[in-house]
Amino acid sequence: MKHLQQLLALCVFMLSFGMAASSLAADSPAAESKLPERDKACTLCHNESWPTPVLSIYQTKMGVIGDSRTPGCRDCHGPSENHLKSPVNQVDIYFGAVKPGPLQSDTWPKTPSSAEARNGACLACHRGKARTNWDGSQHQVNQVACTNCHNIHSPQQNVLNRKTQTEVCFACHKEQRAESLKFSTHPIQVGKVVCSDCHNPHGSAGPKLVKKNTVNETCYTCHAEKRGPFLFEHQSVTEDCRNCHTPHGSNISPLLISRPPFMCQQCHDGPHQSPNPAGPSAAGNQGGFIGNANQNFTGRACLNCHSQIHGSNSPSGGYFQR
Ligand code: HEC
Ligand code: HEC
Ligand code: HEC
Ligand code: HEC
Ligand code: HEC
Ligand code: HEC
Ligand code: HEC
Ligand code: HEC
Ligand code: HEC
Ligand code: HEC
Repeated sequence: MKHLQQLLALCVFMLSFGMAASSLAADSPAAESKLPERDKACTLCHNESWPTPVLSIYQTKMGVIGDSRTPGCRDCHGPSENHLKSPVNQVDIYFGAVKPGPLQSDTWPKTPSSAEARNGACLACHRGKARTNWDGSQHQVNQVACTNCHNIHSPQQNVLNRKTQTEVCFACHKEQRAESLKFSTHPIQVGKVVCSDCHNPHGSAGPKLVKKNTVNETCYTCHAEKRGPFLFEHQSVTEDCRNCHTPHGSNISPLLISRPPFMCQQCHDGPHQSPNPAGPSAAGNQGGFIGNANQNFTGRACLNCHSQIHGSNSPSGGYFQR
């Protein structure tokens, strides 16, 4: 019974497509002739009257009529001979539905083709460049498809728009959404910094899909002053910014993994009383020692004195003081 209904609905649909096609030809021959010839086998039915937008692809960079590199329907969906014989047969490469199809049935939505097949269709033209490291990348290995991020029939590609990109990523990365709402963050929520400023979602030679080969190189693209060169370098800084910072958000400002002095004590003994008489004349100076244990905990803790924590150029000495 279900099947019969489906067939009936199909007949009605085919009829209305025929009518739409002929009325289109009569009303606006110009619009019809703008469609590339090679797509006609498909746009006969998938025209303006199709319930989900299909021809909108001609308003995108991938639908520039007259550009010979522009993909046709079958470059992405495959030759689909069986579908052309009867629409109840699925196309060769099916990317999944945005909305339920016009013929709601037990078989809809149909099973999308494998991620490999879907990605293969795109990579036929888009291998290399930013996608050199796609194979073996965290997204590729976890069956994430190009079309999980790129809604290519739409002129509004959310993932390419800095105002909307993060929503695309947050759909799967809830933890980073939560982090971006913490007290100290990169200005991600206000859209000043977006995920793709630091990550290449297509694959990377560095860890965690960072854009450059290392985390530090990625950070230096915006925080160049932290690269130095410094007369006195702090080894933990040149090693990895992650020794002290977390990128998306933290409740300890500025983006710190934990609070000084504890953060510093992961690697250093302390609190300490410095025996250096040439040190700052801090309160609590007693018996040749400057500072007292208390200063390690109050105010800016270790940073009360070691204020140039990323490295210093002061000719008077190291220790990351002024
Ligand atoms: C004779 C009309 C007709 C032609 C020609 C046609 N389609 Fe379809 N197409 C349909 C109908 C009807 C459906 C809905 C089928 C359903 O809901 O089960 C459909 C569904 C689809 C779907 C959704 C997934 C699927 O496989 O059901 C895609 C993608 C698609 N067509 C692409 C194409 C492409 C690409 C071409 C050209 C190679 C093409 N169609 C040619 C009528 C047609
Ligand atoms: C660049 C690759 C590409 C090209 C070219 C392309 N499509 Fe698609 N098509 C897709 C993807 C990917 C989807 C899945 C929805 C999405 O991501 O926008 C899709 C979805 C569809 C659907 C199903 C929509 C739905 O809501 O279920 C139809 C029908 C369709 N395409 C027909 C066509 C027709 C007809 C053409 C030629 C005019 C065409 N496509 C050209 C990639 C392509
Ligand atoms: C037949 C070749 C071909 C295929 C197949 C193809 N593309 Fe494209 N794509 C292009 C061309 C050509 C452009 C325009 C490039 C330009 O303007 O420099 C483009 C542009 C794009 C852009 C940039 C759009 C923009 O607005 O800047 C994205 C994203 C994209 N393609 C993704 C995809 C995805 C995802 C698929 C698979 C579903 C795919 N492409 C399949 C040829 C192709
Ligand atoms: C996890 C999400 C995601 C996936 C998966 C993804 N992309 Fe992208 N893509 C993006 C983002 C974000 C940008 C914008 C990058 C930027 O502005 O630096 C982009 C940009 C592009 C562009 C235009 C700029 C360029 O690099 O030429 C193309 C083409 C493209 N992607 C193709 C693909 C193809 C092909 C695949 C599958 C092999 C794919 N993308 C998979 C998120 C994704
Ligand atoms: C369809 C779901 C999906 C979308 C959308 C998505 N991702 Fe992912 N992403 C995954 C999966 C699955 C993994 C691998 C498992 C994991 O590490 O969580 C992953 C891994 C990653 C990793 C590497 C994690 C690691 O441990 O090495 C980064 C970075 C990343 N995604 C960033 C992004 C960015 C940026 C976007 C948006 C442009 C995005 N993702 C969109 C599903 C998605
Ligand atoms: C300021 C640079 C920067 C921005 C912006 C950024 N990330 Fe990251 N992301 C990183 C770094 C660095 C790491 C590695 C962190 C680590 O190893 O602890 C990372 C790690 C990740 C991971 C893996 C997390 C894990 O625990 O392994 C995911 C997923 C991720 N980012 C997604 C996103 C998403 C989604 C966005 C946008 C909302 C985003 N990132 C924005 C720099 C950034
Ligand atoms: C795309 C540029 C960009 C990249 C790449 C970048 N940042 Fe930032 N960073 C910013 C901006 C913008 C701010 C906010 C500055 C402001 O509000 O004045 C910021 C602020 C910060 C802050 C201070 C946060 C606060 O609460 O005041 C820290 C710490 C920081 N970034 C560390 C990093 C680290 C570590 C990396 C590498 C993982 C990195 N940044 C990569 C742009 C960037
Ligand atoms: C040894 C721990 C440590 C490491 C490693 C570290 N930072 Fe910091 N960073 C801090 C502390 C502590 C502050 C707060 C300084 C203050 O309050 O004066 C800070 C502040 C910042 C700020 C905001 C204030 C400012 O000075 O602009 C940025 C941006 C920043 N760090 C970037 C980086 C980058 C990029 C790296 C990697 C190259 C890095 N940090 C490595 C400890 C560290
Ligand atoms: C991930 C480990 C690590 C963390 C966290 C760290 N440091 Fe360091 N720090 C080092 C290393 C390694 C050296 C260089 C080795 C040495 O000379 O003892 C160094 C050197 C120093 C020096 C100079 C020592 C000298 O002899 O010149 C001072 C001062 C210093 N760190 C202060 C701090 C403060 C303050 C913090 C917290 C804001 C901190 N460090 C966090 C690893 C770390
Ligand atoms: C009251 C100022 C002051 C405070 C607070 C302070 N330091 Fe120092 N620190 C100094 C001075 C001055 C020196 C130089 C000592 C010398 O000449 O031996 C020094 C030297 C160091 C050195 C290198 C010599 C050594 O002992 O290995 C390290 C590492 C260090 N401090 C870490 C820390 C850490 C970690 C904290 C927080 C727990 C901290 N300091 C708090 C003033 C201070």
